[in-house]
Amino acid sequence: MNWKKKALTLLAAVLLIALAACSGGGSKESGGSGKEDSGKGSKPIVIKFSHVTSIDSVKGKAAERFKELVEEKTGGKATVEVYPSSQLYGDNDELDALVSGNVHMIAPSVTKMVKLDPRWQYVDMPFLFKDQEHVHKFFESDVAKTLLNSDQLAANDIMGLAFWENGFKHFTNNERPIQKPEDMKGLKFRAQAGKVLEAQFKALGAGSATIAFGETYAALQQGTVDGQENTYNNMDTQKYQEVQKYMTISEHGRLDYAIFVNKSFWEGMPDDIRAQVEEALKEATELEWKLAKEENDKSLDNLKNSGKMEVLELTADERAAFEKALQPVYDEFEDVITKELIDGIRNLK
Ligand code: LMR
Repeated sequence: MNWKKKALTLLAAVLLIALAACSGGGSKESGGSGKEDSGKGSKPIVIKFSHVTSIDSVKGKAAERFKELVEEKTGGKATVEVYPSSQLYGDNDELDALVSGNVHMIAPSVTKMVKLDPRWQYVDMPFLFKDQEHVHKFFESDVAKTLLNSDQLAANDIMGLAFWENGFKHFTNNERPIQKPEDMKGLKFRAQAGKVLEAQFKALGAGSATIAFGETYAALQQGTVDGQENTYNNMDTQKYQEVQKYMTISEHGRLDYAIFVNKSFWEGMPDDIRAQVEEALKEATELEWKLAKEENDKSLDNLKNSGKMEVLELTADERAAFEKALQPVYDEFEDVITKELIDGIRNLK
């Protein structure tokens, strides 16, 4: 080999190494921006999705379907690792994990976003939503979009993509049947988060303590609190009928979710893959809304048929008494939630 041939061979080798480095050889598996995992290399983009309910809950089922849809639509270029039941992060740290990019997607009950924007407590305003149709109208409304795309979220490098539903909340407790506001007096309830729920219980003469979802069963069992409020499906999939004697069908507030992603990760994904993941989310969301009703109906039957929990209904007058007793919550929080949001929701009816 003469010196010219040697030089050309060396140059070709250097070029090959440089090319290999550019084509994804150094890509991160997950945790970094999605761009690095362009899907063109051998490793798929991994979307880590953390949530706190069980795999058989409304949210758990929809998350599993979302994973299947992402893998189908991207032809395996993106995959979703779902971590249910607070396996990876619970109520106290999943939002921080999203902000720091340790997970890429979460679906918290929206009231837990109070840490970043108190307006998310709209969901706790007593008797604000009339029925499921009203909730769906809200999810599709411009007022709802302002929450998903707020500056408060962007400042923390996160963004909201969609609303997922669970259902109306109901009170349970271990002490006595609850038919009227006075029956709540002196009882202590587990609350999810935020001042609105604290004020709600206070207005009914009860106390409350914020307890993470993953710790609530034990708190009820050990009597740390006497009661809690939740949807039929959350109670049933957490087996609260084993540790609660009475449930009142009160429909006094809502428990719904939004899907939040880490913004840098999301925007860093290649455009074509992000569009396919968006399509998957749209389909999973449609399914989730359907499941919410079906699963909550089934769960109500399970709770009734458990033979362990007495299920009580409210007459129209009894319901009106709760509405009246909870009016002070509006007086106290209208400015925090904003009149614009509260009226925006009311006017959708
Ligand atoms: C709760 O804490 O009761 C709920 O937010 C749990 C959930 O995610 O549905």
